[in-house]
This record gives sequence, C-alpha cells and structure tokens, in this order.
Amino acid sequence: MQLTPLHIQGGRELGGEIAIQHSKNAALPIIVASLLSSEPVTLHGIPRLSDVYTILEIVHHIGARHTWTGPNSLTLHTPEILNTETPYALVSKMRASFIVLGAVLGRAKEATVSMPGGCAWGPRPVDQHVKAFRALGAEVSEENGNFAAQRSGSLSGKFIFELLTVGGTHNAILASVLGDSVVTLENASIDTDVVDLIEFLNSLGAKIEGAGTNTLTITGVSALHGGEYTVIPDRIEAATFMILAAATRSRFKLTNVRTDHLTAVTAKLQEMGVDILEDGSSMIVDARNREMKPVNVTTQSYPGFPTDVQPQMSALLATVTGTSVVQDPVYPDRLTHVAELHRMGANITVSGYTQVIQGAPLHSAPVKAADLRAGAALFIAGLTTEGETVIDGVQYLNRGYERLSERLRGLGATAFQPEPALAAAMD
Ligand code: EPU
Repeated sequence: MQLTPLHIQGGRELGGEIAIQHSKNAALPIIVASLLSSEPVTLHGIPRLSDVYTILEIVHHIGARHTWTGPNSLTLHTPEILNTETPYALVSKMRASFIVLGAVLGRAKEATVSMPGGCAWGPRPVDQHVKAFRALGAEVSEENGNFAAQRSGSLSGKFIFELLTVGGTHNAILASVLGDSVVTLENASIDTDVVDLIEFLNSLGAKIEGAGTNTLTITGVSALHGGEYTVIPDRIEAATFMILAAATRSRFKLTNVRTDHLTAVTAKLQEMGVDILEDGSSMIVDARNREMKPVNVTTQSYPGFPTDVQPQMSALLATVTGTSVVQDPVYPDRLTHVAELHRMGANITVSGYTQVIQGAPLHSAPVKAADLRAGAALFIAGLTTEGETVIDGVQYLNRGYERLSERLRGLGATAFQPEPALAAAMD
C-alpha cells in the first residue's frame, strides 16, 4: 500500500519521556518458535509493526492461529502443521522469515522455503543456515528457487559457524529443539535476540544450555508445552531515540530499556560528550548545551556497535563539526541513507563500507527511505533542521517503529502524515 509521506519540522530542542517498544527482532523469531508447540502460547511485548503482521501471516499459512488479547499481547496456537511449504510471495515480504525453515523442519520433519534473495542494501546470504542443517544430519536440496529440508531422525552432532550470524543461530536452534539427540553449536551468536529466543524455548520445556555464550548445547525433547512470555525491550529503537536526543541537543527520558544491551551505543555517545544516566530500566540522555565531538564508529556483532544503528549514527555525525569515520563491515552495502542525506546538505564521502563524514548543519529537503534504518536516519536528520522535511517510503519506518509520528509528537516534534484524502486534495 502506498502511504502518505511523513512531514517533520525540527531545528529546536525536544524533550520528555518515551516508552521504548519491545524488540521487533526478538519478537519475530519467538512468534516463529511458537510453531514448535502444539499448545497455546501467550506472548506479551509484541510491537504492532508491519513486520509482525507479515510474520503472523506466514505462521498462519503454516497452521498457527492467533488472537490479540491486549494492545501488545497475543496468543498463538498451532495444533498441527497445515503447510510445510512457504512460498516466495510470503518470504519475499520479509527475508528474516527464512527461519521458518528450521521451525517447520523441527516440528514436521520436512520443510520447503523459498530462497530469501537480496534486499535494498545487498545480498542476505543463508549459506551458514544450510551448512548447519546439513552438518547436523538434515538433507537440504536447492531447486526452483526453493530450499527443501528433511530429516529422518533427530538432528545431532556439532556445527561450527564460520561467522557470527543471528538468523543462522536462530534457524539451527529451532531445527534442533525437538528430538532425542544432542546438538552443539560452536561460534554461535550471543546476540540479545538469540538469548531471548533460548529463554522463551526453555520456558516451554526446551533444554538449551549456554545462552549468551558462543557454545550452545541443545538436548532434544519430545514436545514443548504451552506458556507465557514477555519479549525484551528493543535496543535498536532505544538507540535510535538516544541518537535523536543527541542530534537535537535535547534531554529525553527513555523507559522500558535494558541498559546492559546498549553499552556500545552508550559508550560512543558519551565519547561524543552526551550525558547518559542509567537508572534500572530507564535512562536519561542529556545533550543540551553540549559541544559534541566527532567520533569513529565500526559496527560489529553484539555486543559491538550494531549495524542497525549505523545509518542513524551517520545522520547524527553529519551534524557534528569535525571529521568522523563510520565503517559497517557487517553489512558493507548498507548505505542507502547517504544519497538522501546528501540532499539535506550532508558532506559524506563513501569508499567501500567506509563513510568519511565532515559535519555541518543540515537543511530540509524531500527525501525517500529505501529501508527501515535509513528511514530512521532521515527522521533524525530532519528533526535537526528548521524547514519541513518530507520523508517518503514510510512503509519501511512502519516495519520497525510503532506509532512513530504520534510518539515523536510526544517528544515535542512536529511530525504528521496527512490523511490520504487530504493528501490527494493537496496534490
Ligand atoms: N551472513 C552470511 N551467511 C549466512 C548468514 C549471515 O554470510 O548464512 C552474514 C551476513 O551477510 C552479515 C552477517 O553475516 O554480514 C550477519 O548477518 P545475520 O545473519 O546476523 O543477520 P540476520 O539474522 O539476517 C538480523 C536482523 C537485522 C540485523 C542483523 C545483524 C532480524 C529480523 N534481522 O539479521 O536487522 O541487521 O541481524 O545484527 O533479526 C533491522 O532490524 O533493521 C535488521 C535488518
């Protein structure tokens, strides 16, 4: 659906309190993991985002039925698997849905999922997912644009990931939980979203040891029971609002945060001169009256500086006097924000995955988000300028930020999307 653009106007100090949503990237695999139980599972802290609606459509196709029981709570129930095939029309809506391969293989012993393909900022390989399945005893074939996996017995043995992958670790865990053997995953991701998936599965009776370390031991169980679980707060959304506070030289109080999940971002903003005060599950970010210093940033797997925060950080640094260098080796092509920031006057030179940024005040311009975090970079940049910035591509923002314009208004920003009828009248 074509959405009307987001209009924002800034150039002034914002302020106030914002409750951070629960994690999109933790919620998605947990919804998929509910396919492993034949009993009802109630989840709390599910953000109302288009990616969540997409994954619900996919698990519905597979056999899950869901009921929203509150604004951010739902019950999922998959008494039986109705379809072991997930077609391209569904997978292409959200490439992260490739992890249904592991969940359906785990529950139904066979699964076919379309190849995920690339996205706006480059290829999204799944070689590690497939190597893990094969090393643990599944047969995986690739034909007609699909991966088809099957297992005769339980997955067992050891797989050493060649690199740290969040989705690959999710997929291997999901495929290994049900069975009567032991699976060991080495060089597994220690990302917060992997830990949350493991804690959820263990709460349903799975036996997974080593969460938060690079070695996971999964002892197969015959079935998972139902249960109730609350998803962790969204560290990427929290980081986005921390950066917005810095970029607009404002003071925000963020609630519903896991400060221990944000240490890399907190340290980098403190290095720039931002005051950050942590207090249990809340945080005060104060950048008022601050002379901000340029910094160098390199993305890494968790607990390093997240690639999902790189475009937002680049937008902030584009406003900070001096030279900053931002490198994103995790996703070297994640650069769609750069050309749009150029339209706002940013001085960013790109070479490979390196951005050299000479900071200076930005100006407003019509811009277009080509992906979720590029969109976040644009609303941050727009809120530093006095004129009106019109951001197209709002469907990408809706994938990751719940009720964005309303929540920006709550911080004192001018942010609105004209109603479609009104927008037509203005054409
Ligand atoms: N990789 C491979 N082979 C594989 C898998 C990954 O080479 O088989 C590489 C990737 O190309 C990348 C690196 O490994 O260079 C890390 O990729 P990872 O598998 O960890 O990423 P992902 O699981 O596909 C999740 C998030 C992304 C986030 C990355 C990195 C979800 C739904 N997606 O993707 O989030 O950028 O981890 O932290 O959890 C976003 O929210 O904006 C987003 C894109």
